[in-house]
Amino acid sequence: MAITTQQLTQWKQQGRPIVALTAWDYAIARSLDAAEVDLILVGDTLAIVLGYENTLPVTLEEMIHHAKAVRRGVKRALVVVDLPFLTYQESPQQAMRSAGRILKETGAQAVKLEGGYPAIVQTVAQLVQAGIPVLGHVGLTPQSIHQVGLRQQGKTEETGERILLEAIALEQAGAFAIVLEHIPAQLALQITQKLTIPTIGIGAGPHCNGQVLVTSDLLGLSEKLPPFAKTYANLKDTILQAVQNYSQDVREGKFP
Ligand code: KIV
Ligand code: NA
Repeated sequence: MAITTQQLTQWKQQGRPIVALTAWDYAIARSLDAAEVDLILVGDTLAIVLGYENTLPVTLEEMIHHAKAVRRGVKRALVVVDLPFLTYQESPQQAMRSAGRILKETGAQAVKLEGGYPAIVQTVAQLVQAGIPVLGHVGLTPQSIHQVGLRQQGKTEETGERILLEAIALEQAGAFAIVLEHIPAQLALQITQKLTIPTIGIGAGPHCNGQVLVTSDLLGLSEKLPPFAKTYANLKDTILQAVQNYSQDVREGKFP
């Protein structure tokens, strides 16, 4: 049965951890869905597999193109798609148009956008009122890389308090869950206890209601790894080895 946003909140109440990963195409999406990953995010870390330096260049067209492929590979997981940089920050109207295109053209169930400042909270409220489920994202927000780098956020009492208040505001605006990225574990615990909706952590310690990783990091395909990533396979080496073996076979007349 397909997973709903309400299901995630029930799992939080039951203490059942939420498993989330990113996907960028049909084949990966099918593998994640077969492994019963609960939430599949078409993240703007799509940048990694497109060879971009960071997430800023990713376009709405690229997100839609890849989200369609992912959606075709998923039967069970909740599919969430990132709104890329500057496709939602301008106004609630711009956000509505971008999110509307994602839901209508890809068949994904929800969108994610970064930030918890007042204008974003207002945008989230309007999207939710229009029937578009929204996943929030606070702490390190990589679309702000030119202002904050990729450093851990919320280390001081003041910035920690700000992130907590942003998370509360996003819940009040109707977000169905919130990604907490690269913040201290204690702060993530505090936010997780304070909210009714689930928290999904990445580099935010073990106390969140779920965890998300970037699948290219998990599989050992990314060029650079964030300090909090865990690599469960080394596909870069596997691919190199396979291609070298094939090349050798062709050159030596062993294949076909
Ligand atoms: O784009 C992405 O992969 C994300 C996750 C890191 C949460 O936003
Ligand atoms: Na993202």
